[in-house]
Amino acid sequence: MKKIVTLALTLSATCLWLSTTDTAQAAASGKELFTQHCSACHPNGGNIIEPHDTLLKSAREANKVNSVEAIIGKMRNPGPGMSKFDANFLPDADAKAIAEYILKTF
Ligand code: HEC
Repeated sequence: MKKIVTLALTLSATCLWLSTTDTAQAAASGKELFTQHCSACHPNGGNIIEPHDTLLKSAREANKVNSVEAIIGKMRNPGPGMSKFDANFLPDADAKAIAEYILKTF
């Protein structure tokens, strides 16, 4: 009996541990943040408002928005048609996670 109780406790502790680490990763995921804040106007890295200003590498290179710093700069000081994401709304760590996701994905 004691063994079964110990086993049950170990199993539930493991589940708890697994579920908390899952949540921690999701909170820091650039992909999730991108989906939440950017993908309405930039689906699949495109741009539904300004077709020339996509997030694809070729457009980023042509428009010189091709580094973590430049992409964060765009969020803080966007051009016409893009919503502004200031540091109160989107902390630097989240902005950086989104920028890194864009650079490695599109
Ligand atoms: C309301 C629509 C909208 C949302 C939401 C939006 N954008 Fe934009 N984005 C635009 C428009 C319009 C432009 C073109 C104007 C400009 O360069 O600012 C643009 C341009 C950009 C560019 C420059 C691309 C290039 O090739 O020059 C980057 C980088 C960018 N957005 C990143 C983001 C990120 C990151 C988010 C989410 C945090 C976001 N955008 C959310 C509309 C949006």
